[in-house]
Amino acid sequence: MKKPVSPRACVFDAYGTLFDVHSAVARLRSRLGDSADAVSALWRTKQLEYTWLRSLMGRYENFSTVTADALDFALETHHVDDRELRRLLLDAYLSLDCYPEVPSVLETLSSNDMSLGILSNGSPEMLKSAVESSAIDRWLDAVLSVDALKIYKPDPRVYQLACDQFRLKPDEIMFMSSNAWDAAGAKAFGFSVTWINRFRQRSEKLGVKVDHEIFDLTALAAIVQPQ
Ligand code: LAC
Repeated sequence: MKKPVSPRACVFDAYGTLFDVHSAVARLRSRLGDSADAVSALWRTKQLEYTWLRSLMGRYENFSTVTADALDFALETHHVDDRELRRLLLDAYLSLDCYPEVPSVLETLSSNDMSLGILSNGSPEMLKSAVESSAIDRWLDAVLSVDALKIYKPDPRVYQLACDQFRLKPDEIMFMSSNAWDAAGAKAFGFSVTWINRFRQRSEKLGVKVDHEIFDLTALAAIVQPQ
């Protein structure tokens, strides 16, 4: 373990890092039967691909639209034609479960006077709904959405939003993401980065090395020390 650091703010990715993106399908598993896990995985994969593709195409649509389009692709692929189920899945995405350790980790950091924020692809409405339904809004100083820029991660301008919000230099911010590509993008921008490798993935071959790797947020306490 590297020696602990004292960033001036901790900024978190939302989907996959604080919120369990597979909890939407999990709630409706019985309606999807054997294809539930495959639908959930493809939904997430396509959702991310569409953010990258739309950014490259210069055809931004907000994350609600991208999420609905990706779900349509996943449902079509698995021959699920059920409008009510589609609506229920999209509703569930607005109140995803947060990972169990999230509230206590945020509470501890906040009680140590750490500035805390979210920086996410999510639209402002989706993020507001997610943080309120999991009751973590009380610990957050800022919830930042790419929608302000109409371009998705890992465009460096997105990460700059957090510097502007907290009036800090990139290396004064510790950024947490479970998405290896997002962790790489954030490191390339200049943040200190902790990769929350929840899914035990290989690191991306993108020419950058994150500062810390842990498997859930609990271990953050050993990395981020109070100032
Ligand atoms: C987000 C995506 C990357 O929350 O999960 O920005």
